Amino acid sequence: MLSRVPPMGFNTWNTFGPDIDETVILQTADKMVELGLKDAGYEYLVIDDCWSERERDAVSGKIVPDSVKFPHGMKYVSDYVHSKGLKFGMYSCAGVRTCADYPGSFDHEYLDAVTFAEYGADFLKYDFCYHPDTSNGPLLYRRMALALRNCGRDILYSACNWGSDEVNTWIRSAGAHMYRSTGDISDSFVSFRDIFLSQIDNFAYSSPACFNDIDMLTVGMYGSGNVGATGCTDVEYKTQFALWCMYSAPLMLGCDIRKINDFCLDLVKNPRLIRINQDREGRPPFIVTKHSGGKVFCSVKIMSDNEYAILRVNLDDSEHRLYFCLEDIGIPAATGKSLMLTDAFSDDRSFRCGEIYADHLAAHDCRVFIARIV
Ligand code: GLA
Repeated sequence: MLSRVPPMGFNTWNTFGPDIDETVILQTADKMVELGLKDAGYEYLVIDDCWSERERDAVSGKIVPDSVKFPHGMKYVSDYVHSKGLKFGMYSCAGVRTCADYPGSFDHEYLDAVTFAEYGADFLKYDFCYHPDTSNGPLLYRRMALALRNCGRDILYSACNWGSDEVNTWIRSAGAHMYRSTGDISDSFVSFRDIFLSQIDNFAYSSPACFNDIDMLTVGMYGSGNVGATGCTDVEYKTQFALWCMYSAPLMLGCDIRKINDFCLDLVKNPRLIRINQDREGRPPFIVTKHSGGKVFCSVKIMSDNEYAILRVNLDDSEHRLYFCLEDIGIPAATGKSLMLTDAFSDDRSFRCGEIYADHLAAHDCRVFIARIV
């Protein structure tokens, strides 16, 4: 199965937008290995929109790579990415044009799937701009799913219709391995908070084989690049990454990893957070306490091997006290059981907690524990 656990990788859009070329991709591939990101699990290197010529080849009907941006063609780029032990991702769209007005795959699904297979692609992000009004979203996504499944190569299918047509109710049946459920992220606290909160009731639909994609991470952008906005603080990036990990969202890095700072590199390589994200059971967390309109909450994810992940997060703009009762997790006091908590951000800090846990969280901050019942 291609998405037994949430896919992990890098996508060009957040930082580079249209300014992509062979050099950027090759250097990013090098850095993914050098910085240990590949070893941490980031395996897909995905080229987003703006990689092709403006029109298909008049004779073959194929999409053609931009000859200035990619002078050696896509197979060359893909071979390089593969030579680094990484996987290679491409982008297209279910409409007649992509969102940035390049050729889309509408009515060319099988030809394009075979073209991507010829490039050696392992991943396809499939957008939703410029589809004919008379067309049917589920059918368009099914069409590309079947094209990919019959193109001669295993290609992970990343649907991107931004949550239209109640996508979570049908996209799994359409064959996608992950699906964007919201509009585009920008690099600000408000953007990622609102994207996350809009999906908090939908993660029950997300599980192995088809994960809810709440967009590429902005961790490390600090307001620069294509979707750079106000930028985020280090505390906010920590919270963004914790939310994505806890809720089994695909982890697609979006910053310029050639320039990533030590704080963000350590954050996105945090082995405990990644373990929570990649847990093979892929269960959605349940909420044990919430207040302030749902912006301050504690949730628990039951993991494999009898471990539990606990997220305590404050998405409000002022400090809050937050508690949880072991009773609410499913550990009644009469059992005499307690929890051994290990801080996911500094695993030398383990401590025992009985009946209730309470502390204060600064605005926009979070705390994550991995717990065992003892
Ligand atoms: C849409 C998608 C983005 C990105 C752009 C490219 O907006 O949601 O993630 O792929 O298109 O044009």
